[in-house]
Amino acid sequence: MAEKKIGRNDPCWCGSGKKYKQCHEAFDKKIYRYALEGHTVPTRNLIKNEEQIQKIRESAKINVAVLDAVAEAIHVGMNTKEINDIVNDVTYSMGGIPAPLNYEGYPYSVCTSVNDQVCHGFPSEDVVLKDGDIINVDASTIKDGYFSDSSRMFCIGNVDPAVKKLVDVTHECVELGLKATKPWSFLGDMAEPVHKHAEENGYSVVQEIGGHGVGLEFHEEPWVSYCTNAGEDMLLVPGMMFTIEPMVNMGSPAVFTDPENDWEVYTVDGRPSAQWEIQVLVTEDGTEVISW
Ligand code: MF3
Ligand code: CO
Repeated sequence: MAEKKIGRNDPCWCGSGKKYKQCHEAFDKKIYRYALEGHTVPTRNLIKNEEQIQKIRESAKINVAVLDAVAEAIHVGMNTKEINDIVNDVTYSMGGIPAPLNYEGYPYSVCTSVNDQVCHGFPSEDVVLKDGDIINVDASTIKDGYFSDSSRMFCIGNVDPAVKKLVDVTHECVELGLKATKPWSFLGDMAEPVHKHAEENGYSVVQEIGGHGVGLEFHEEPWVSYCTNAGEDMLLVPGMMFTIEPMVNMGSPAVFTDPENDWEVYTVDGRPSAQWEIQVLVTEDGTEVISW
């Protein structure tokens, strides 16, 4: 590994203040054995310490409150700019900053993606929610420099049962991915049940847009696919944090980005797409859902 050599009695690289030999020495050796076997393994900067995790939990408190407030207010006839206003109000009143705003030039505080919009939908006064719509509201928050990120689907009024099923199955995909997330397993172990469950229901998973590490930055390594299989992709170890956020299409997995703004992503076949997102910490014995 290209990590700096640390003496056994030196302070651990994780910032715990403990001696290396009493902290992450055995952990590093274990990771090294996986690397020798040819696996992709996480670098140290992807391992969060307890102090950082606590700060990220504080950020997530705001993110969850934002989505709870949207859930309370969302209704037929509301426009998506009003959702953006709620996100701003709740986030700033709790001492946070909406992470999307100005992120790589993104012009709003939240993504609101309706029906065949796959992700990165722009809030707008012109997008008025109507009976039967489905919408993904994707909120991300910065608090004291720490990041949280999660999204939920909302069904507006009476949604066609076939479309409601897409929303529910996508939620089940995330739950199955969470259940399969374990320390000393692989991202592919998480991804396999996600895409299998979608495919068993006749749906497809978007391949070119995925999840990501998160916490110290909005988007960190690793990039997270939901199309890989058990044993593949990066090793998961305690202290890693990433999102489970598959985009599940009712029809073809093909998507395109609106060339007018280079952000809004749509299905090519015009059929609906659903997405739920949770932020997950890998712990010593399982997982902790940090934001949902
Ligand atoms: N919140 C999205 C995600 O889940 C990222 C959107 S990028 C933005 O990763 F700039 F549109 F916010
Ligand atoms: Co995300």
